[in-house]
Amino acid sequence: MHLIDALHARKSVRAFRPDPVPRALVEELLVLASRAPSGTNIQPWKVHVVAGAVRRRLEEEVLAHRETNPEDVRAEFPRMNKRKEPYQGRMRKLGKEMYGLIGIPKGDQAANWAQWGRNYKFFDAPVGLIFTVDKELDRMSYVDVGMFMQTFMLAAKAKGLDTCAQGAWNNYWTVTRRILNVPEDEYIIAGISLGYADDSHPVNTLVAEREPVESFATFHGF
Ligand SMILES: Cc1cc2nc3c(=O)[nH]c(=O)nc-3n(C[C@H](O)[C@H](O)[C@H](O)COP(=O)(O)O)c2cc1C
Repeated sequence: MHLIDALHARKSVRAFRPDPVPRALVEELLVLASRAPSGTNIQPWKVHVVAGAVRRRLEEEVLAHRETNPEDVRAEFPRMNKRKEPYQGRMRKLGKEMYGLIGIPKGDQAANWAQWGRNYKFFDAPVGLIFTVDKELDRMSYVDVGMFMQTFMLAAKAKGLDTCAQGAWNNYWTVTRRILNVPEDEYIIAGISLGYADDSHPVNTLVAEREPVESFATFHGF
């Protein structure tokens, strides 16, 4: 697949078919993703790849913890719940469009809670990736991990697979840390669901619009 086609074709998929993804294919994608650049080539990304029984245990324990500790949604590193405009508005628009597609009425807290909980099932994808970063590294390293994640997602698309990046995995990190034996000196920063899209699911028809170039780019010296 041409790179430009992969860029257009990649979108966040939130319903997957059960078809397995072999370990060798995930390894191939990780090799490709590791071509991502990083400041001074420090390559700070670390990733736990979960499937099978470990994935099931992770999912069960995180979801059980979430039911008994619904407020435990703080990341271990600084994050914000409410953002200033225009960011908050964009977030709300995405939520409205997504919940509209799957028929969750505004204000239906129970349905919202259940749908968000699907993050912790990797949206039924057969493989999940959990990214961590050394706590001592600075914010530039988070940029590096983002580069890796996007390279991974484009490589996956080029190989016919689909993905969803998931900040949701920095909630309930105590459980994830315990199950995957993540060292205390690393933050759990995000996840990726990996598999084959269930094209019959309405959630996967969502197209998240982008702002026009003039809204974010300032040109100098042209
Ligand atoms: C760092 C990051 C974290 C994200 N976290 C989540 C998440 O926890 N759950 C989710 O459903 N989507 C998540 N997304 C997907 C975004 O909502 C999505 O990328 C955005 O709406 C643009 O849509 P697109 O990926 O389909 O182009 C995340 C994306 C990024 C880059």
